Amino acid sequence: MSEPLTRSPITHLRHVGLAMPDYRESVEFYDKIWGLVPVANDSDITFFATPAHPEQYILRVRRAAEKRLDLLSFAVETEHDVDAVTERMIAAGVQVDREPDKLGTPGGGYGMRFFDPDGRLIEVSAEVAERPYRPLEPRESIPQKLSHVVVNATDVVATKKFYETLLGFRLSDWLEDQMCFLRTRVDHHILAIAHGPHTSLNHVSFEMRGIDEYMRGTGRMKRSGRPPIWGPGRHGAGDNTFSYFLDPNGNIVEYTTELERIEDDAAWEPRVWVATPEEADQWGTSNPITEQMIPAMFNDPDRGVWTGSPI
Ligand SMILES: [Fe+2]
Repeated sequence: MSEPLTRSPITHLRHVGLAMPDYRESVEFYDKIWGLVPVANDSDITFFATPAHPEQYILRVRRAAEKRLDLLSFAVETEHDVDAVTERMIAAGVQVDREPDKLGTPGGGYGMRFFDPDGRLIEVSAEVAERPYRPLEPRESIPQKLSHVVVNATDVVATKKFYETLLGFRLSDWLEDQMCFLRTRVDHHILAIAHGPHTSLNHVSFEMRGIDEYMRGTGRMKRSGRPPIWGPGRHGAGDNTFSYFLDPNGNIVEYTTELERIEDDAAWEPRVWVATPEEADQWGTSNPITEQMIPAMFNDPDRGVWTGSPI
């Protein structure tokens, strides 16, 4: 493998793609309850944005016979970065799914796709057109951006090493030896890798405007008949608040806010957090993790590994 990169070309997590059989119900959920805005759709795919962020979309939901994580999309700064990532992947023997090309998805741009060591489909793109956006109002309890994604892997160290070596991710913290939190810029993590019984999606996290809006969103979910399976609470690692919910297809989605920022990258020393109730939830307001969260976060084995997405 190549030498580690000194600075990741990745600026942020652009969007997460989910595919699922209960398509209509899921579209309704993310639109009417979760608080995203459908910006483009046909009968088989819907792209969701938030009015508070310039990304064209932060979530896409596709109709499919089997549930899967369709892809994770990361942004890089320039088309040159897309080409450089491609060269790096090819040199390392990584399976490329799509060579660099113009993208046909909303906002266009230039991107490529490859499979990570667990067979997850990853897209890297640049020059995607921005959409108009505005700051959220106080008390407006809808997501303002995508925060992070957590995936389950059977060999956390091997998957972590891939993201560090080939994409320049940096380790922020460990949760025992079970989960590692990775960053590319100031956010404590945009990707975390958790030890699981199989390759699958653990959860997708959406950032709210602040504590008040996060609690209002949590309450709206509760009143809609979908109470948190874990939370509300405040994690030790990342210092972010959390409320975790199940979407109609059994994927976990999170409302969070106040994720720790690592401003001085060079000075940061990764820590190892312990999975005690006090470190899992500083506030002590959440129910025990064992009740629903642990079985739910393993999710079903992902049916889409090593398989490209039609869109
Ligand atoms: Fe999270």
